[in-house]
Amino acid sequence: MTTILSIMNPKGGVAKTTTTINLASYLSRTYSVAIIDTDPQASIKTWLGEQSPLKIYHAAHLSQLKALPSNPRALAFDFILIDTPANMKPRHAEIIAEISQLVLVPCKASKLDLEPTLGFIDTCLIPNQIPFKVLLTQAIPTSSYNEEIKNLLLEQRIPLFSTIARHYQAYIHAVANHMSIFDMGYTAGSAQNDYQRIAQEVLEHLKQTSLTSTLSGHTKLN
Ligand SMILES: Nc1ncnc2c1ncn2[C@@H]1O[C@H](COP(=O)(O)OP(=O)(O)OP(=O)(O)O)[C@@H](O)[C@H]1O
Ligand SMILES: [Mg+2]
Repeated sequence: MTTILSIMNPKGGVAKTTTTINLASYLSRTYSVAIIDTDPQASIKTWLGEQSPLKIYHAAHLSQLKALPSNPRALAFDFILIDTPANMKPRHAEIIAEISQLVLVPCKASKLDLEPTLGFIDTCLIPNQIPFKVLLTQAIPTSSYNEEIKNLLLEQRIPLFSTIARHYQAYIHAVANHMSIFDMGYTAGSAQNDYQRIAQEVLEHLKQTSLTSTLSGHTKLN
């Protein structure tokens, strides 16, 4: 069975592309993985270059995505990760969210980013009963503010990754060298730890939800 993960937040610069590439890179060590880039700026190609070890598709038309859950060629992969642009039209966001087993919502650990993120969750994800999890990103490791933001989200019962993607220079080097942090060796060790733990949380979530849906007699794709 293919699992579709989409990475969404209409707020720009929150680490959607960073999360897509590094999560895909980690998962591809064990699973077959494809990335679908729905960003007209094609940031994934710019980042990884022509020699990418990951399979990348550019979805220029939304109809290609709508057909995804029944497209046998696409379903040859264990995982499909969909990167989305900033300021995506709400209807487009809903279509992508609806075909996803899990929507990852990266959000900078800052109040300026939190408000629009909560707006997206309240208008697009919750009303459509989309399974989602917020991922705090670019957090200064020593900031006490990280816990404050985490608690604020938990108080509102917003599903949240317990791992925070901390702020490291390794990401800047990764972009400059057209690679993921997992291709950078020990210099990116701390950043690798974060995305490894995030991937494990994703896998654990999928295990739990497939157990729940088996118990209730159906899975989303069947
Ligand atoms: N954990 C991190 N530590 C340091 N820098 C980071 C981290 N995560 C992302 N960045 C940097 O933040 C910038 C924005 O990241 P990215 O391009 O992934 O965001 P985005 O949400 O895809 O942006 P857009 O909305 O424009 O598509 C990039 O320069 C990236 O290298
Ligand atoms: Mg992007």
